[in-house]
Amino acid sequence: ETKHWTVSQQSFDKKAMEEAASLLSKGEAVAFPTETVYGLGADATNEQAVQKIFEAKGRPSDNPLIVHVADKDQLKDLVEDVPEVAYKLLEAFSPGPITIILKSKGAVAPNVSAGLDSIGIRIPSHPVGLRLLQEVALPIAAPSANISGRPSPTKAEHVVHDLDGRIAGIMDGGPTGIGLESTVVDCTEAVPVILRPGGVTAEAIQEVIGTVMVDPGLAGGEKEKPKAPGMKYTHYAPEAPLYLVDEEMQQHADKLTEAGEKVGIIATEELAQMLQSERIQICGSRKDLSTVAEHLYDALRHFKKSDVSVILCESFEKHGVGAAIMNRLEKAAIGRI
Ligand code: TXA
Ligand code: MG
Repeated sequence: ETKHWTVSQQSFDKKAMEEAASLLSKGEAVAFPTETVYGLGADATNEQAVQKIFEAKGRPSDNPLIVHVADKDQLKDLVEDVPEVAYKLLEAFSPGPITIILKSKGAVAPNVSAGLDSIGIRIPSHPVGLRLLQEVALPIAAPSANISGRPSPTKAEHVVHDLDGRIAGIMDGGPTGIGLESTVVDCTEAVPVILRPGGVTAEAIQEVIGTVMVDPGLAGGEKEKPKAPGMKYTHYAPEAPLYLVDEEMQQHADKLTEAGEKVGIIATEELAQMLQSERIQICGSRKDLSTVAEHLYDALRHFKKSDVSVILCESFEKHGVGAAIMNRLEKAAIGRI
């Protein structure tokens, strides 16, 4: 009973947009493409509609949702005041892969912000997602459109796999492009803090606002807990246990194979060329890590538990987009060798 639409990025299907917007206005949950990952949207002002997101995903209720809007003008209804740095970030990166946390006015349903007095706002730049937000003209709460714990969806088929039959509609707008979720920046403090690395790099943010801090909880230390509630849960898990491999991929794969394991390898083009293995999933190029980001979640979904018993994945340096890639991989992995 899930409705399916396929929408081209060049010419919007007016009827599909109207149908999806109408379902959202009526309090239904609908998946749609953004430039980062597919989102599962619902009217942020409607508590029952928002509840449908948590149920469809199996999402813990203490994990707040990002509110998506089409235009900066909608901010004044949702947040108390917009500090200078937030304006600068919005000017520089919105529409785009950044989420700004600000003091909430309390205009959205209480289950959106999971009891926090702040709210995360994002204006996506994907032409299909943005058009849908314009059409519906409501703030739309939207987490990634996957079952909680699985890799986020970067293709409509990932959403279909996880949520078909559980939500009112799925709008297919093609592969998402950036491939990792937005950068979450807390602007409620004097110095903004990156709570989740993502599509916009810390380096790029620094160029615009001078100083930005990184949530110490992100380093995964014992005493610091991540400030974005969602960062503490299991995430992005593939079907078989995943290990990050810093070097000597071939030797590790051979050893595991000799021990009777069925080994799947996720590697860049450059490393894959040097490997001998029956099961390699190529994930972008080391020459441009944005291509790794683009294909990462698809690669994590590629190996099925019927085919492999363990997955080995190449690791990356934590510079630029590499920081966001490694943040996701360290959550997806159960260890490092
Ligand atoms: O790219 C994205 O951000 C995608 C697309 C669909 O827009 N959305 C997304 O949503 O990744 P989700 O729910 O999977 O992740 C939202 C993250 C979580 O880590 C959550 O804890 C954090 O943002 N977050 C949301 N509201 C917050 C708030 N008020 N304070 C602190 N963290 C917040
Ligand atoms: Mg998510």
